[in-house]
Parts: sequence; structure tokens; C-alpha cells
Amino acid sequence: MCGIVGAVAQRNIVEILVEGLKRLEYRGYDSAGVAVKQDNEIKRTRKVGKVSELVGALKAEPIDGFSGIAHTRWATHGEPTEDNAHPHFSNDKIAVVHNGIIENHEPLREALIKEGYQFSSETDSEVIAHLIEKERKTSSSLMEAVLSAVKQLDGAYGTVVMSMDDPDELVVARSGSPLVVGKGIGEMFIASDQLALLPVTREFIFLEEGEVASIGLRDVKIIDRNGNAVEREFEESTIQHDAGDKGTYKHFMLKEIFEQPSAITNTLEGRLNEESVIIESFGNRAPELLKKIQAVQIVACGTSYHAAMVAKYWIESIANIPCLVEIASEYRYRKSVVLPNALFITISQSGETADTLAALRLGKEKGFLASLTICNVPGSSLVRESDMAFMTRAGAEIGVASTKAFTTQLTGLLMLATAIAQAQESISKEDIASIVEELKHIPGQTTQILELAKRIELDAEDFVEKSHCLFLGRGDLYPIAMEGALKLKEISYIHAEAYAAGELKHGPLALIDHEMPIVVVANNDDLIEKLKSNMEEVRARGGQIYVYADEKCDIKGSDNLKVVKCQSGGNYTSAIILTIPLQLLSYYVAVMRGTDVDQPRNLAKSVTVE
Ligand code: F6R
Repeated sequence: MCGIVGAVAQRNIVEILVEGLKRLEYRGYDSAGVAVKQDNEIKRTRKVGKVSELVGALKAEPIDGFSGIAHTRWATHGEPTEDNAHPHFSNDKIAVVHNGIIENHEPLREALIKEGYQFSSETDSEVIAHLIEKERKTSSSLMEAVLSAVKQLDGAYGTVVMSMDDPDELVVARSGSPLVVGKGIGEMFIASDQLALLPVTREFIFLEEGEVASIGLRDVKIIDRNGNAVEREFEESTIQHDAGDKGTYKHFMLKEIFEQPSAITNTLEGRLNEESVIIESFGNRAPELLKKIQAVQIVACGTSYHAAMVAKYWIESIANIPCLVEIASEYRYRKSVVLPNALFITISQSGETADTLAALRLGKEKGFLASLTICNVPGSSLVRESDMAFMTRAGAEIGVASTKAFTTQLTGLLMLATAIAQAQESISKEDIASIVEELKHIPGQTTQILELAKRIELDAEDFVEKSHCLFLGRGDLYPIAMEGALKLKEISYIHAEAYAAGELKHGPLALIDHEMPIVVVANNDDLIEKLKSNMEEVRARGGQIYVYADEKCDIKGSDNLKVVKCQSGGNYTSAIILTIPLQLLSYYVAVMRGTDVDQPRNLAKSVTVE
């Protein structure tokens, strides 16, 4: 959600902080602020809007300092105003930035007001600043004050604290919101995501839940929530240096759509034999565990949930074991039944989604055989807390709308379904070899389908003035239709819904008239004739149909039926390939409607609050 950057150095760090914010802006973007220590006071600049507004303000009235903190906000408590923007101060002595939600902020605020503290924002975060200021009066160090303060907080926080009385030091605390410490030469940095710090360092320490750290020019002291010292080494980052640049592309989303052939190549690399999947790709224990499992439970949110839904079709048909799929925010709050010998799977681009992480923690208590995460961010909370991790290796995804993360998740999930079938010997060697062959062809086929971009851009023109849209699919293309609808609504703000095409006549058919565009994804499978009948039902009622179909489908274009034929892969991989036209369609519609494609309104990339 929000983005955090901090630095302690022997040079002016304002530019480093601002560059870090720019690289984190995809996480939250309704206001931004920076505070630095300058001439025995803390100077602060805050602005409503994007980081570019803050940059303008800093150009007009520069500030500089050798240590400082900065923040880009995605509002939870209090509207996006300058007063609500971070950093927040207490008595001009303590400055704080915070990512997360403090659930008990109201009683804390009341108590602090009674003690004479004055609040200048509506945020939950400001209580942290005042609590620390209060604790600092009776503590021997800033670190001790922060530890005492965070013990009083309920909720989630990743927070960085700067104090006027504690030179060359920042103190950070993590519970529920990620933080990473970066090391330079005689300087140290902190951020909510390593991406922010790649221009200045590649050496990182990932803080664990409940830890508090004091960051000085040359060293980092970490303690756990009980105050015990923690030893941890810096690790070299594996993320590409240019991950935060969009190069010659107009938007990160377009860049990321076009990166899919190479992203999927990376997902597959070193994980396939000639005619089988290397089962250890899912972890050292995978051969033994995947042989034993009798069921799978998957939880995820948003686009990752759609990947889970596709996986259900694949796991049940390829591996022949039951697969339950649920939205993480529902799963975590209801009583559910754990099937015997079930594997608990989370799917997440960021690895930090609050609901998915809470569901994993619940799953671990409920007695699943083991947990596996399909995730894109190394070192993220889901990766660290799961028994096994399969890294999708999509590379940094900056556009808020998930694209390459989704198709690499699907690639990993098809490999997983195959690996289970292999471990359990539930399908023939020939069938396994045929799926492996399909997997190997995905990068080439995604490259070919991207060549259709111009053709899809033409279709997009028809959607620009529309207010509603329906997406239809059958079988494993039904969740792909859902993903298409999500992409369209989140970046173009056109209301879109997806249906399993067989459901049409049970209600949604009433919506069809000549104003309603209907997007259909079609593969040449057992259901194609049924899908064609569903399309006829729509045509008979005047709906305008746009079909993205495998080239082998016998579907002919007409006045109100436009068809784009694609080489869509095989039985299973069509779901992956046919996702791409839907991504491109949403992208072009959004560009033509003039919306903010990479940072759509009200959304944030990494949803670290529930
Ligand atoms: C939509 C989108 C979101 C995410 C969801 C889960 O394009 O990106 O729906 O898929 O917030 O995020 P992760 O995958 O990081 O757990």
C-alpha cells in the first residue's frame, strides 16, 4: 500500500529519498512527503497528489539533510490532504512514516490528548509519533522508546522513526508490513520494498515480524519483540537493476505485457526435463509431499485468485485430486473443513497481501499437510512463512494491473498439476510428456500473440464510449474471462462482469442489447459447440460480440461478431495465451479513455492492509 524510504548518510539524501518514492509510487499514490534533519530542526515538505507534485515543491523550496524519511500514501484513515500526508511529527522532535493500520488508534489518541498531545491530522499513524515522543522521555535510547511504543499498538505497521535527539540514527519496526534495510558505504537505507533502493545498494536485510532495528551509518542493530538481540547477515539482491524503468514503453503495464515471453521463459528455466516436470522445483520435500497429498486448498486475492480458479480445473483434471479454491479474505474468517492430507497453497504476486498471509497463518494452525506459495517476490512474507515456495520469476511488476505475474503464476500452476500427477503416477507418461511439450511452447506462442496488438487496438475503439461490458468463457477459460473483466474495470473504469457462458440464460441475458459489448474467449475444445450456441443467443438479441479464439475454432465473423484468431497453444496452455488479448484490449481501451493506466484511481499495488 504506502511506500516508505529512509536514509542515514554523510551526504544530502533528499534526491535518494525522492527517487525511492518514485520507484514505490505504484504502491500508493494520493500524497507524498519527506522530512530531513537540517540545522538542528526537522524540515518537512508534503504534497497532495503524485510524487511529481512533491518534486515540484522541493524544486521551488529545496531542503537538504544527511538523514531523513519519506512516504507515499494510499489513504486509509483520513482523506488525502497535506495534513494527513506523512511524515507525522510530535513536538517537532519525532518524525514518523507508517504503512499499515493501527486498529486501536482511537483509545490511544484519546489518552494522548488527555496527556496534552495535540493532533494535526485525522490519521491513525499520528498516534505512533506521539507515543514514541512520550516513551522517549523515559527510555535510554530511541530503540527502547520505539519498542515500548509498538507494544501498545494493535494492527499492522511498518514504521520508520527519526528523532531530533538521536543523531545519525533511524529506528524501524515491522509487524504486518514489510521493511528492508539496505547497506551502502558509510551509509544505510530503509524501504518498504528493495526496489526503492536498487540505485544505491544491492545488499539487504529483510526484517522479520515483530522486529525493531536501529540503523546507523555503519551498522544495524536488530532486536525481536521481546528485546532479544537478533543476528542477521546482508544478502545480495537478485532483482534486476533496471526493474523500475519503463524504457521506451508508454506505460509499465504495456512493458510488462510485452515482457511475458521472457518472464515465462524464466519461470520454466531449469524446471523441465525432456518429458517431465522436475518435481523438486517446488522444494526439496516436494517429491515426497506431492506423492502423499489427497487434496489441495488454494487461497488468494484478485488476479491471483483467478489463477487459483484456473488451477482448480487443471489439478482436478490432470492430477485427479480435489482442489478447493477460496478468496483469502473469506477463507480467513469462516469455519472451514480441512480435507485429509491436504496441501495448502497461496498464490500472490507480492507475497505481502494481508488477507493471503493471514489465511496462510490460519492454514498452518489448521493441520494441513504442508504449505506451498506460488509467489513472485523473493524474501517476501509468504515465501518466508511457507514450507515450500515456487518463485514465478516474472521480475518486478510495477503496473497496478497484474499481467506477467498472472501468466507466470498460471505457468507454475500447470507445472504443479503435472508434478502432482507425476508424483502420484495418476496419468500416463505420454500425457505428461504432452503437457510438458505444451509448456515449452508458451514463450513462442505468447510472442506470436503479441504481434496481434495492432488488431486488438482496433477493437478497443468500439469500447471507449461504453459503460458496461460482459466477458464469457467456458471451462478453464471462464476464470480467464473473469480476469479480462477485472482488467477492464480496474484500468478503464468500465463496469465489466464475467460469466461462465452456460449461465447466461439464467439471468444475465436480460442485459443484452445493442449497447452491450460481449467479449468471448474460446478454445477448440469439447465445449466449443456449446459456446457457439451461447454466442448465438447473444447475437439474436443484438449484442456486439468480440471473440478471441484459437485458430482451430470454426467461428466466422459477421456484422455483429468480430473474431481474432490466434495460435493459442494446446489443451491447457490456451488459458495462458488467450489471457494476453484481454490484457491488450483493456490496456488500449484505458489509454483511449485517458485514465491513469499504471496507477488507476483508488487502487494500490501491494495490499498490505485487510
Ligand atoms: C489486479 C491485481 C490485484 C492483485 C491482488 C492480489 O490486477 O493486481 O487483484 O492480484 O491484490 O495481490 P497479490 O497477487 O500481490 O497477492
